[in-house]
Amino acid sequence: MSQPTTSRRTLGLTVAAAACGLLLAGAAQAQQAPLKVGFMLPATGTFAALGDFIEKGFKLHVQEQGGKLGGREIQYFKVDDESDPSKATDNVNKLIKRDQVDVIVGTVHSGVALAMARAARESNTLLIVPNAGADAITGAQCAKNIFRSSFSNWQPGYAAGVVAAGKGYKRAMTITWNYAAGQETVKGFTEAFEKGGGKVAKELTLPFPNVEFQALLTEIAAQKPDVVFAFFAGGGAVKFVKDYDAAGLKKTVPLVASGFLTDGTLEAQGASAQGILSTLHYADNIDTPRNNAFRKSFALTYKANADVYAVQGYDAAQMLAAGLNAVKGDFSKRDAMLEAMNKAVIDSPRGKFSLSPQRNPVQDIFLREAKGTNNELRGVAVKALADPGRGCRG
Ligand code: PHB
Repeated sequence: MSQPTTSRRTLGLTVAAAACGLLLAGAAQAQQAPLKVGFMLPATGTFAALGDFIEKGFKLHVQEQGGKLGGREIQYFKVDDESDPSKATDNVNKLIKRDQVDVIVGTVHSGVALAMARAARESNTLLIVPNAGADAITGAQCAKNIFRSSFSNWQPGYAAGVVAAGKGYKRAMTITWNYAAGQETVKGFTEAFEKGGGKVAKELTLPFPNVEFQALLTEIAAQKPDVVFAFFAGGGAVKFVKDYDAAGLKKTVPLVASGFLTDGTLEAQGASAQGILSTLHYADNIDTPRNNAFRKSFALTYKANADVYAVQGYDAAQMLAAGLNAVKGDFSKRDAMLEAMNKAVIDSPRGKFSLSPQRNPVQDIFLREAKGTNNELRGVAVKALADPGRGCRG
């Protein structure tokens, strides 16, 4: 076999060098290409305001980082999920298949989020859930590429049960929408309330997102329990709190609620919400430099007061940043990025939190009281509460 001539060898080297240069240029370009973030959030319906504040919170953190996370520009895509589980798979595939996003951020409604989690798992797309509490997302249906910046439904429900039992209430009724979030929140409440010596006498439900509460309120008035535990949110929560007051129940049967009942809603609920006790992983007046700076920045940017949804959106961006910073924006270093996200301590306006092995926040659940337009801190209902992550393998 003849040796290549010098000139052929030189040519070979030149071609190799050029190919190498192209590769390097390609890598640099990939590094600089914007990271595609797809928001799947409700823009219409009873949860529309919640979706809006999640998006605002997320964008605020990105803006505070100079428009980049881990050195990457962010390009946004958007789908209105209408809080409709029957459209969820089609909607999430618009982001995964059509827009080919790198990361999905969504959503509010537990039923929609469960379908999103399935699609994210099957396509191995990174998903950060900035609200929906469906327990299975960081439980039986957990996956290494699925994270939550918010809570599991069990968490605020369980903490409310601790509070209600601690106040000496013995007989409770619960009222909620009949879907995953309502059912699981009530389950958490019941677990702690009955462990504390109480008894849930009756669970009242109506279909999501109905707001015809009258017949159920009449039943509460007839049964006169010691306490009512409620989970509603958004527009539905506004109507429930007003109807509860109008039915005369506010004066006779105390409400203890999952904090969503009065979060982002106090202006619209007015006098009817004053004094309502609730449990949640955020309170408006947490007096720390971190929370004060966040609320100031949010108010300056959006001319509105931040709420729990804004915090969860903001922290979703912080979690993504933790992953991207660890790999200097190189999204292809997937394992290292996911591990850094899981190990991160997030400096949240709610207080620092870490993630459970199932990738759900381990966090203090606060007791709050509605005062004016704030949910004021009254104490810590349960410290560093970790969702049990039941059924998660992986
Ligand atoms: C949910 O469906 O998981 C959900 C919706 C609204 C909230 C909280 C949880 O405010």
